[in-house]
Amino acid sequence: MQQVPAFQKCINPDCAKTYDVGQILSKCPACGNLLDIDYEWDKAPLPKSAKDLGIVPMPSGGMGKISGVWRFAPMVGFAKPEDRVTIGEGHTQLRHSPKVADYVGLNPKNLFLQYEGLNPSGSFKDNGMAGAFTHAKMVGGKVAACASTGNTSASLAAFASASGNMKAIIFIGDGKVAYGKLSQALDYGALTLLVRGDFDDAMARVQEVCTEEGIYLVNSVNPFRLEGQKTIMFRVLEGFDWIVPDWIVVPGGNLGNSSSFGKAFMELHKLGLIDKMPRIAVINAEGAPTFDRLVNGKKLTWNGGHVNDAIIKEYYDGLDSRGERAHTIASAIEINRPVNLKKCLRAIEVTNGVVRTATDQRILDAKARVAQEGLGCEPASAASVAGLKQLIEEGVIDKDARVACILTGHQLKDPHATVAYHSASEADLAAQYGEYGVKTTEFRNSPVAVANDLGEIIDAIRKAGGNDGCGCGCSGCC
Ligand code: F0G
Repeated sequence: MQQVPAFQKCINPDCAKTYDVGQILSKCPACGNLLDIDYEWDKAPLPKSAKDLGIVPMPSGGMGKISGVWRFAPMVGFAKPEDRVTIGEGHTQLRHSPKVADYVGLNPKNLFLQYEGLNPSGSFKDNGMAGAFTHAKMVGGKVAACASTGNTSASLAAFASASGNMKAIIFIGDGKVAYGKLSQALDYGALTLLVRGDFDDAMARVQEVCTEEGIYLVNSVNPFRLEGQKTIMFRVLEGFDWIVPDWIVVPGGNLGNSSSFGKAFMELHKLGLIDKMPRIAVINAEGAPTFDRLVNGKKLTWNGGHVNDAIIKEYYDGLDSRGERAHTIASAIEINRPVNLKKCLRAIEVTNGVVRTATDQRILDAKARVAQEGLGCEPASAASVAGLKQLIEEGVIDKDARVACILTGHQLKDPHATVAYHSASEADLAAQYGEYGVKTTEFRNSPVAVANDLGEIIDAIRKAGGNDGCGCGCSGCC
């Protein structure tokens, strides 16, 4: 698994300064813009065809040592093989999903769900954390920190405890995290700070603290994080036998994932390993609509890297003056100041992408439908499916298009949301979800309360259509 000579590079074309990979930077010291990792591919042997990417010999030490990130080393190989950190991330799957296709109105042959809930900490973040931890190891980091809506922190905490020589500090907006995720941070032993505020506040504070205290920051402003996340797209393409699908649909929060997808496709295309670009659709929650409002409302574009900063500043000033905060049941993407905004504008431009919002009602309904396919995801993940449905209704995505939706996090991350959807009474639903505009639970599957009595239990099963009683397992045809 070769190393590829790499460097850090400012994304602003007017600056384009480069920095050694041995430096710890979360923005360009010269102009303050985000940094990319760039590679000197002409100095490293590349596979002749994309089909040869991802094929690696079995390492010693068992399956857990096989990383779904580092097996794509030719595309992400900024570190020496011995520096690459893994907790066995990236053993995920691209699942054909005809029932969900039927729900969204797509040709049943053509919908695939990329299930990133299978990662060791239960979300796609482990792909990126493998990249960030590898860089932290290269530069001798001892303490790592992040702000999080819960999944980045769970991943950081898992990597830190597995590494044994890195401490983790987590900044979480108080009351803004799903329980499953909080439980992970605590159980893995991370120092967990519940900052009075929301994710946007925690993100601002963690950057200040890391600068002040020389702590290694693993949020997605860290360009090494996004290198790891590119591999989600390599695995999707692998699942499609390297035939590029028409659309990739992904939830957008801090916009790191969508940015990394855009970069993955740009690089594969530049290297001649794919012949066309898919289109990327980024789906915000309606209650956290910054990217949608900037792209569709204010017509903000990448513009060859000359992004109009005045539009962004005016928008954020408006949020502040109105006291507007992000508010959605999809807590993972409850973010109004996405740090990767500019990189995501680039991803939208190079893939001819689109941006939409999905309501919490549609997100929860989509989540329940995804579960009927045997895949459990958290609310934010289902934004991709809800967004796809909407884009098909609008006629933007053709019903015969080939589509991959990214399911970013596991169902058990947020069991409260699931149980409330399926079992809350109308009054409870209004009390718990009214503020999010959720009024109905079309796909509810309520638990049935029964007495501790054989006859009553059998009656309840028959009444619910669980078994018709003839004993042969038929559906009443005998
Ligand atoms: N889906 C899930 C399950 C997430 O946890 C996140 C982000 C996203 C989608 C959005 O991805 O930020 O790259 O646009 N969660 C971050 C966190 C913010 O702290 O765990 P993004």
